[in-house]
Parts: sequence; structure tokens; C-alpha cells
Amino acid sequence: LGTQRVNAEGHLEIGGCDAIDLVKEFGTPLYVMDEETIRENCRNYKAVFEARYPKNDISFASKAFLNMAICKVVEQEGLSLDVASAGELYTAIRAGFPLDRVLLHGNNKSLFELEMAMDFGVGCIVVDNLLELRQLKTLAEKKGKTQKILLRVTPGIDPHTHRRISTGQEDTKFGLSVANGDALEAITEALEFAPHLKITGIHCHIGSQLLDAHTHEQAIDIMVGFMRTIADATGWMPEDLDIGGGLGIRYTEDQHPPSYEEFGDTLIGALRAALEKYDVPEPRLLQEPGRALVGETGTTLYTVGVIKRVNIPQDPGTRTYVTIDGGMSDNPRPQLYDAVYEVLVANRMGEAKDQEVRIAGKHCETDILIQSTKIGHIETGDILAVQSTGAYNYVMASNYNRFTKPACVFVKDGEADLVSRRETLDDVVRLDIIPERLA
Ligand code: LLP
Repeated sequence: LGTQRVNAEGHLEIGGCDAIDLVKEFGTPLYVMDEETIRENCRNYKAVFEARYPKNDISFASKAFLNMAICKVVEQEGLSLDVASAGELYTAIRAGFPLDRVLLHGNNKSLFELEMAMDFGVGCIVVDNLLELRQLKTLAEKKGKTQKILLRVTPGIDPHTHRRISTGQEDTKFGLSVANGDALEAITEALEFAPHLKITGIHCHIGSQLLDAHTHEQAIDIMVGFMRTIADATGWMPEDLDIGGGLGIRYTEDQHPPSYEEFGDTLIGALRAALEKYDVPEPRLLQEPGRALVGETGTTLYTVGVIKRVNIPQDPGTRTYVTIDGGMSDNPRPQLYDAVYEVLVANRMGEAKDQEVRIAGKHCETDILIQSTKIGHIETGDILAVQSTGAYNYVMASNYNRFTKPACVFVKDGEADLVSRRETLDDVVRLDIIPERLA
């Protein structure tokens, strides 16, 4: 994957850095991000759409992976940034990201978040509901500003991905329905809020880790049809069409997401067909990929601890539990979404994978990182490299069992830079207060 290789010592190398040297320097668990591949992905994704439909803009969905360092990479690669909270926005601000290239999302934005976005000059706020629309208008009026907005709508389609990451269906907390007229009503109201609000278009996001582009195709047809409806009803034709993110990645060998090129062909094919079908002029096409840009660029390194053979009632009668020094606090995805991962033995690459093991975490519950995987010889002290952990791992880490959150490094051309330090035990208690009466 990416710049991963096996070096002369039989060790896994990422971005020219020996994984075992990284472990010596930074400890485990460790999130390793392959910077060159992130950059290549940003460039390639952009290039694919530039070539097929020049009127477009790609934002990186920062929820997938965010700290101040990645903001610099995304900025340098010329992408915009999608944020979904005050915290994500603040990270972009502190990293000096150009805020006119930031989109703010959220289905229940606080007044604080709306005001913060406006004060810092966020380029676009994606309005989710009527309450927000009205609050934003009042704020813009008070501040004497014109805020650009998109309206998030629900196309009403089921993306057939894990239910916890499906968002485009009718029964959802996100956006306003196209089908029942709520979205059109909100757009009519938004247009009346000029000059305080300037609505530039519509947005949808249908789901995540989608392994084909069928749902995107359907969504595009519904969204472009809705653009026609809007124009007929209000006389205003949306200039921006944002179709969110959602392109999946390969976590295991049996998963085959479309390549960027295939995805681009399908999307732009569907867009051109719909524009013709509904007689709609070319909008600016906006996208917000997260996982597809960073997912496969991340590797988590762990040290193997206890290895335990237990008897099981079913075939083959025994199971080997290989325990790592992390678990659901650094990667909650198997617990939350039954997510699957592949693993390598970083200090002994290229060995025949002749035994089946279960990889377990060290939390006080049955946190299984990988239910069943084939690996070669394994012993305490070995370094495991879990693949494709670049999206929704680092950002979803918790302090469960008061674990300290792992460090994160960017590797590139043989150099490793710490971009987020490991938490210390003092960090673990830094927010605690013992009230006087308990002292
Ligand atoms: N735009 C919006 C409005 C979104 O809600 C999301 C993801 C994206 C873009 C980016 O989607 P992507 O390209 O990464 O699929 N924690 C879950 C994923 C939740 C995704 C939420 N929204 C996981 O670990 O699978």
C-alpha cells in the first residue's frame, strides 16, 4: 500500500522509514501516516475530476483525519476543507488554513459555532435545518455580513452500507427532505433572506465506505432533478451541487472499491446525463471525500504482548489470541461497525502465513481488533502493523480505561515527524478536579 515496502532486514518500511525504528523512537501504539501517498491521493482525485469536469472543487472531509499538520498538506495540495464542529474549525484556524476555503457542516450547530464561523470568515456554511437557517440570517444581519450557504437535503436513498454510516435515506436526522417539499420550502425562505444569506446551491451526503458508485449515480439524478424543480418554482437555479463524500477503500483483499478514475467516469457520466435530462446548466460540482484520501495511507503499529491458546467447542478445537498494547480506544471501528482489517508482522515480513489467530486489544472487555486472520510465526515483542487505519481511527480515539492516546507521525522520504504527541499520564488527569468537600 502506498510507499510500503519490505527492506533488506525483512522489516516493513513506510515512507522510507523502517517500522521497527519508528517503534524504537516513538513507541507503540503508533499511528503512521504516509504523507507522500496522502499528497498523491489529493492530487490524483483532483486530477481525475479536473479532466472530466473542470467546474469542480474538492474538499477534504477532515472528520476522517484531522490535526494541524494535515491542514498544511491539504492546503498545499490545493484542496478545500470540510469541518463539522467548533473543534475541527478551530484546528483549521490554528493551522492557518485559508478560511474562505472551509465549509462548515453539522446537523445541530450551536450559536457559538455559527458565530465563530461567521467571525472567522468561513467560506460556506452547509445549513441543515430551518432553525439554523433563521439563526444564521439573524446573525448575518446583526453583523452586517453576507454569509454564503448551501442547503443540505435528503435525496431519500439507501446506500446499503453499515446502518451507522448511512445518511441519505428518508428516515434520517440530516438535512431536509426533497420528497416531501421541506427542502424546497427552506430554499424559498433562504432566497428571501438575501442579502444576509447567499444560498449558492444544494448538498447531500448519502453514506460512507460505499464500494460502488450506484448510490451516487441515483443521488445525482435526484439532485439535478431537484435543481430543475427549484428553478421552476423559484426562478433561481442553484450554482453549486455538493454530493458529499462516501467513496470506500480496500480494507481487505475481497473488497473492490472503484478506482478514482472509475468513480469519476460514473459520477460525471451520471451528472452529464442528468443535466441533459432535466435541462439544467452545468453547476460547480463539489465533493467531500474523507476516507478515500487518507484511509489506506495510515498504519497502526502495536507491540504484541500475551499470546494465549484457548480451547473452543468448534473446529479446530483451539484458538490463538494475540494481544496488542492498544485496542478499542485507538480503533473503535471493529466494535462499532464490525469493521475488518488486515495485519502484517512488521519485524518479520514475507513469512508464510500458516496460522490463524485472533487479534485482541487490552481493554477490560472483549475488544477484538481482528476476529480471524492468517499470520506467520508470532511471539511476544513482535510488532504488528494494522493496515488502512488512516481514516476514522486517530480521530475516533478515546481514553477508555484511561489509556493515553497514541502518538501520530508523518513519514516521508525516510524522515518521520511527530505531528501529534503521545498523551502522558498527566494528560489523563489534567481535567480532573477534586472538590473541596472531598479533599
Ligand atoms: N461529507 C459529509 C457531510 C459527511 O458526513 C461525511 C462523513 C463525509 C463528507 C466524508 O465521508 P467519507 O468520504 O469519509 O466516506 N466514523 C465512520 C464514518 C462516518 C462518516 C461520517 N460522515 C467510520 O469509521 O466508518
